Amino acid sequence: MRLKDCHNFNDFRKLAKQKLPSPIFHYIDGAADDEITYERNTSAFNDVDLVPNVLRGVENVDLSTTIFGKKLDLPFYCSPTALQRLFHYDGERAVGKAAQKFNTMFGVSALATVSVEEISSLVSTPKMFQFYFHKDRGLNDSCLERAKAANFDVMALTVDTITGGNRERDLRTGFTSPPKLTLSSLYSFATKPMWGINYLTKGKFELPHLQDFVKEGTDTNTSIGQYFSTMLDQSMNWNDAEKLCSQWGGHFALKGVMSVEDAKRAVDIGCTGIMVSNHGGRQLDGARSPFDQLAEIVDAVGDKIDVICEGGFQRGTHMLKALSMGAKACAGGRLYLYALAAAGQDGVERALNLYKTELVRDMKLMGCTKISDLNRDNLRFRNV
Ligand code: LAC
Repeated sequence: MRLKDCHNFNDFRKLAKQKLPSPIFHYIDGAADDEITYERNTSAFNDVDLVPNVLRGVENVDLSTTIFGKKLDLPFYCSPTALQRLFHYDGERAVGKAAQKFNTMFGVSALATVSVEEISSLVSTPKMFQFYFHKDRGLNDSCLERAKAANFDVMALTVDTITGGNRERDLRTGFTSPPKLTLSSLYSFATKPMWGINYLTKGKFELPHLQDFVKEGTDTNTSIGQYFSTMLDQSMNWNDAEKLCSQWGGHFALKGVMSVEDAKRAVDIGCTGIMVSNHGGRQLDGARSPFDQLAEIVDAVGDKIDVICEGGFQRGTHMLKALSMGAKACAGGRLYLYALAAAGQDGVERALNLYKTELVRDMKLMGCTKISDLNRDNLRFRNV
């Protein structure tokens, strides 16, 4: 299978599986416990049907949307995700350059493998920094200062990783950062020699925002679940979030809000957006899907802050449904991560282009020419 054979999300997933040692593939592909929430994040879209209109003159479709004061050419963006150089040696560089080609936003995680300084020298498209509230206050201050100095546009505080999710695939495969060879994973690394050659020859694996403060993840192998459980500050509360918001002084979002009550508090502390998200089903299995939960959050705060629906998107029609429900934009990690693993920047560009092409086609078939044409009249719930 090659990149030109990838025509949808699942094709990229298959190619990624072909390229990656299995512990790394399953780190992306896996989720918490029984992965019920992970599965529901996508299947939720199938409980709602689209009702198209016709005869509306749809030759020109404008997919642009404005979030955090920035106009994006696409109503979706690449969520921040960790450890990208394990998936492809260019890592965050590839994703940033691809996002820039489509004038959309992308996120850089505190657990990124390329620094904010390098990213901002390479890419001028809108950028989000994903902040994790560590016990180490020096690390926290350093992340804020570096992201600010590197002109990042949005700070997103992760609020759904207060402890590590139970990712059983990672337990079985022994996935850690940095990766370690174990007796059981030896075979899977040996069967993907190109990955190994790239890993060893394309520059040292680094976590540039963390490694001056903590050894875990670079000098000491750690699973991501263990990292969250031991390095992050479980006392984090609304006062901390409010302080971070004012310390940042720009567009600030909470990433991982699921309840109306929390969405309202996010408005109260000065957030300009929230990501309705369950962290790709990787944290609390059994949590509701972002799409299922979207309407009540949009109704509560959608006129005050940008509500972004994050997770589960595999198709343009999934995005149409979330946008019709009232999301200002859609976002996802696996949305582009399999494509990154499959073929680096070319892969991500191909994925973004596929979703864009699907959206343009689907908008035309819906009788819509701009994102603001989409609304709940376009949707009907099935009786499930
Ligand atoms: C994860 C984090 C790092 O879900 O976002 O693995």
